Amino acid sequence: MKSSEVGKDVDAFYTSSSENDISIYIHIPFCERKCSYCAFVSFCLSYAEREEYINFLLDEIENFSTTKKVKTIYLGGGTPSLLIKDEIFAIFKKLREKFNIDENAEITIEVNPNSVDEEKLKVYKEVGINRISVGVQSLSNKTLKSIGRLHTKKEAIDKLKLIGKYFDNISADLILGLSGEKSVTRYAKKLIKLKVKHISSYMLEVHENTKLFSEVRDKKYRPLDEKGVAKSYERLAKFLSKHNFNQYEVSNFALAGYESKHNLNYWSYGEYIGFGISAHSFLSHKRIANANSLQGYYIRKQKEEKITKDMEIEERIMLGLRCFAGVDISILNNLGYDIQKNENYKRFLNEGEIIEENGKFYLLPKYYKFADYYILNLFP
Ligand SMILES: C[S@@+](CC[C@H](N)C(=O)[O-])C[C@H]1O[C@@H](n2cnc3c(N)ncnc32)[C@H](O)[C@@H]1O
Ligand code: SF4
Repeated sequence: MKSSEVGKDVDAFYTSSSENDISIYIHIPFCERKCSYCAFVSFCLSYAEREEYINFLLDEIENFSTTKKVKTIYLGGGTPSLLIKDEIFAIFKKLREKFNIDENAEITIEVNPNSVDEEKLKVYKEVGINRISVGVQSLSNKTLKSIGRLHTKKEAIDKLKLIGKYFDNISADLILGLSGEKSVTRYAKKLIKLKVKHISSYMLEVHENTKLFSEVRDKKYRPLDEKGVAKSYERLAKFLSKHNFNQYEVSNFALAGYESKHNLNYWSYGEYIGFGISAHSFLSHKRIANANSLQGYYIRKQKEEKITKDMEIEERIMLGLRCFAGVDISILNNLGYDIQKNENYKRFLNEGEIIEENGKFYLLPKYYKFADYYILNLFP
């Protein structure tokens, strides 16, 4: 895949991005109700508990310093659209006081159709948010109900229309493999009509300690089988490609210029700071993870891991091969790994599965579904 195929804005992001750039992730662990499949760190909290969390979060931001330029900010969850107006203002006031935020920074908020409204959208605009990621998951009322979503198909569509009045850069999440959903292309068709520019399609994962796990175990819920999911994924990729959506990562599709810069920073091994419960940071070759419990988070419990050269080589291959960011050959060389001498690498190049361009190598998108195979075969 040629980088030029994916979009000029992203190219510009890469040529201008440097070691002095950084991304920020903020975790908002609030949910009105737990969806049956969800293992993300999120809880149904009282108003007082939520207030306590936001105060602690603001304090955490206050106590962090960097002179680096912030290129992307991402408010994820949980359900960031449950934040009330004053909380959004307080978070952005603190961020702008503390950090040097690029004037063209990509600033995303994840929203759920049932908790976002016009007043909140106006506040998002006012604080500089310019990208909205909507959790749609499915456009079948039966499916939405079966996984515990609090919105209907109509609500999702109405909210996407409303968001479209205020924002151009809209992304929507779909889940592949839900019971009875052999294909999601009709949902993608509707999303495109609603002017969605980016679609993330995640394959259903059944995590232990979720409601879905017990339902599947007790045969009360039957997800699509592996073959069915693979077919659904292939159909979706084909359909989206016909509609000019580039597959720029295993699970992500976008019109040119609408690729998520925040995620591309993760995948191209850029640095980031994570604030909030369970958030991770990657700074100066260290990965730091905040605690997953509120108790641990409030006593600032963290786990720190130093990234060795060997780990970095593997991680760069693992992340870069799954997406358009690719893997920089000279960086691998500097880390002591001459991949061009690897026999598997030569074979993949010969067979046209991997391409080398401008000092980087890329896996062609049509092989993304086998990415793990290529990754394992390219490790030193
Ligand atoms: C941080 S989550 C939730 C965002 C938002 N609260 C929502 O529910 O729409 C981001 C996305 O991960 C996906 N996701 C969460 N759990 C999943 C699972 N077990 N299997 C597949 N996708 C999942 C969903 O598509 C979801 O929109
Ligand atoms: S999918 Fe979203 S709304 Fe549902 S429980 Fe997870 S974070 Fe909350």
